[in-house]
Amino acid sequence: MNAVPPPYRSGLFAPVEGECAEEALQVVAGEVPRELFGDFVRNGSNPRFEPTGRYHWFDGDGMVHRVRFENGQAHYMRRYVQTDGFNAETAAGAALWGSSTERPDFTRKDAPFKNTANTDVTFHNGKLLALWWLSGEVYALDPHTLDTLGREEFGAGLRSVSAHPKVDPRTGELLYFDYQARGPFLSTGIVSPEGKVSHHTEIPLDGPRLQHDMAFTENHVILFDMSMQWDPEELKRGRTKVGYFRDKPARIGVLRRGAAGETIRWFSVDAFYMYHAIGAYEEGSRIILTGCRIDNPVADPTRTEDVPTIGFLRLEPKLHRWELDLATGLATERSLDDNLGEFPRMDDRFGGAAFRYAAMPTIARTEASLLFDGVDVYDLAKDSKASHRYGEGRFGGELVFAPRTPGGDEFDGWLVTFVVDRVSDSAEAWVLDAKHVEAGPVARLRIPARIPIGFHADWVPGWKLPAHP
Ligand SMILES: [Fe+2]
Repeated sequence: MNAVPPPYRSGLFAPVEGECAEEALQVVAGEVPRELFGDFVRNGSNPRFEPTGRYHWFDGDGMVHRVRFENGQAHYMRRYVQTDGFNAETAAGAALWGSSTERPDFTRKDAPFKNTANTDVTFHNGKLLALWWLSGEVYALDPHTLDTLGREEFGAGLRSVSAHPKVDPRTGELLYFDYQARGPFLSTGIVSPEGKVSHHTEIPLDGPRLQHDMAFTENHVILFDMSMQWDPEELKRGRTKVGYFRDKPARIGVLRRGAAGETIRWFSVDAFYMYHAIGAYEEGSRIILTGCRIDNPVADPTRTEDVPTIGFLRLEPKLHRWELDLATGLATERSLDDNLGEFPRMDDRFGGAAFRYAAMPTIARTEASLLFDGVDVYDLAKDSKASHRYGEGRFGGELVFAPRTPGGDEFDGWLVTFVVDRVSDSAEAWVLDAKHVEAGPVARLRIPARIPIGFHADWVPGWKLPAHP
């Protein structure tokens, strides 16, 4: 009898077997630009052992895939993020935790959930940092070997940071946030360019919130208090259930960098949820914030949704802009596109400053879950976009921008992503000219194994890599 494969452990989401030492990649179309110099790194969920509970896509062990580009050549490798939970399960030879979507066992002495560090990967202070969507210990990886170096506590015993901290290219600081179900509900801080916490503060909130991202400008960090959150009535009964409270105004918070959390300024905006911001900057007294706004983020279990879902999460994100005026305390907002897109990225050299371009993976509307069928590159100054679709049965991931030179013009360089093929169950790394995505990839490289659909990626410029040991 054939068992029905469990969702997210089959098809394009199925894990890949084991790690892979560095292998040279074969170019199957086009040519790798000789100036493309650096590492494309991508984190994702890859369960090592048979799950014990109701497996969810977000539960698998973190695995970092890397493609290193240099002198027109490329090499691939992949390693697990060896978290404490991963190591405990390796020693036991079996899964020791259930799913993050099941009721946690808070009586466990080690951890109610397994921190998989599977969500995000960010390069800072010469190390890759692997981070988790539910907030937890940060794990540092050697960028050359992908060896897990251990927990990174930034010289201050910092034991919990959320996915999506931001590196300020101007100061070299790492700006981070943390959220907790049991308080402190939200905190934020700064890690110096040398990797030490230089500031940490708690943001007052009346209960736990679901956070996923932050943004920053030259002088401020931007945090969120959104309308999808834990149902307070259920929490009183000791249960966790996510609800969407449209009648409760959402708020966007602006905190001066380095200031005490209670000085945060909240701006009321229309009810929404947002997984990912693209960027923010200052224009006079105003903060301009652009991101992927979801008007109605909770699926209705009584009907079939017309957009993809992940469990109860309804994925209908659209490009949106908020303007927060620090002089008047007023916020205005407007939709910038009706297309569905997520996992947006900008040219990180312009982080915190005025930016013009953004690369937005486009959501395949007819798929049941989150799959990206192409990319839109927005020119926000001209209110236009260039598009490329990967082709029938092909799906890509987050595209990261790789600059041609350290100081070149915005988006002068390439976008790199993995593209997988559903029919052949194979994977490639694609390189696109960031200013001409409509022309299709300038290079396609065959990966020696399949790659599961994953989460976030980063680009490490070759000139920022520490000397090879
Ligand atoms: Fe994310």
